[in-house]
Amino acid sequence: MPHLGTVHGRRYPDADGYFGEFGGNHYPPEMRAALDELTAGYRDLQASPDLRQRLAAVRTGLQGRPTPVHHLENISAQVGGAQIHVKREDLNHTGAHKINHCVGFALLARAMGKRKLIAETGAGQHGVALASAAAYFGLECEVHMGAVDVEKMSANVGRMRLLGAQVVPVSAGQSALTEASASAFRAYVEQREHALYAIGSAIGPHPFPLIVRDFQSVVGREAREQFLAITGGALPDHVVACVAGGSNAMGLYSGFLDDPGVALHAVEPLGADGRHAATLTFGRPGTLHGARTVVLQEDDGATAPVSSVASGLVYPGIGPEVAMLHATGRISVDAVTDDEAVGAFFRLSRSEGIIPALESAHALAFAIRLAADRPSSERVLVNLSGRGDKDVDFVLARYGVDHLGDRGRPGHPSDRGDCTGRSSRGSPGTGSDR
Ligand SMILES: Cc1ncc(COP(=O)(O)O)c(C=O)c1O
Repeated sequence: MPHLGTVHGRRYPDADGYFGEFGGNHYPPEMRAALDELTAGYRDLQASPDLRQRLAAVRTGLQGRPTPVHHLENISAQVGGAQIHVKREDLNHTGAHKINHCVGFALLARAMGKRKLIAETGAGQHGVALASAAAYFGLECEVHMGAVDVEKMSANVGRMRLLGAQVVPVSAGQSALTEASASAFRAYVEQREHALYAIGSAIGPHPFPLIVRDFQSVVGREAREQFLAITGGALPDHVVACVAGGSNAMGLYSGFLDDPGVALHAVEPLGADGRHAATLTFGRPGTLHGARTVVLQEDDGATAPVSSVASGLVYPGIGPEVAMLHATGRISVDAVTDDEAVGAFFRLSRSEGIIPALESAHALAFAIRLAADRPSSERVLVNLSGRGDKDVDFVLARYGVDHLGDRGRPGHPSDRGDCTGRSSRGSPGTGSDR
């Protein structure tokens, strides 16, 4: 079950929770005992064949794993370049990859004798996944969510409440994921005797990035095997994932980190009108939510406001392992605008019969652009991290059902090339622009 990634021959994180210069534990010393308790609990889970077997059974029965790898034949034909495949994490129970680490945290909480799970959520996918895992394992659940997201993602708020979770709206700053994270961690500090913090991504102080990466690595392990079986022994040339904190990206990358011939791509949200959340593209080293990482900052060092059409990508930081992989050159980073992502959202719906999450549509938009530049002998594997049911009302209200007109139809001549013609390296603006 656990998978420790190797990068340039080394295993990460080190004993202090560092991925190169990133990571560590930058929370106040009084948190040390709770994080040490978590590290010990996770070590016990790794060492227990019974618990690992239980997790495997939950992945199959409750989650519906393994999820398939699927060839996007229509879009690949339209693009006329490299072949695009998707790892169907949208087919997970509750509709996204988030449940991969939620069931892990719920199992861990039970094993550690905790009675409650606390977390933040952006798009609501992590919250719904955690609420389901908590219900299954008989745990209480408290989910902190920015007030703006509570409004935008009302269907997911209803699902969380139906599953028995308490949703705590957070009205501070941008009233989005960043503020929800801080609020959830405060609640954990207060309730740590009986609660476990089930963080929403591969972020935060050690050991959270390690635990989330390990629980998510099932995605990469499955995808690697499935890809080899489908192609008769070939690996993908490119592996693509959208990144906010990096949980879906690290999950998929972990199956290919040791394959130097596989190019790993991270896709960030370039937003619109100079407002974005492209952390690796425009950020600089800093400390956020208890870890040393890359952070989008104002000139004075304050965390910058962030924006994307995809709520789950509105985060000014990045997981420390993704930051290290970028710093060492193992992954490359590109950015996709709101318009490009919405174009891919419509295109996957109309051409393949799959409505993707807006977060995943960022990865797909980049994959389409990449495939158009590569020969048909190459293969691109994209993490389709979630399904788009949560986004349908919002997209139809803002863009209308005829947003793409004929461009969403398979085989239409205008389907060649990228979705908008706009470069990902456009100028998003800095400082007061944001
Ligand atoms: C479907 C989906 N994909 C991707 C993400 C981005 O998170 P991460 O970078 O942790 O995978 C989210 C976050 O809410 C999401 O809901």
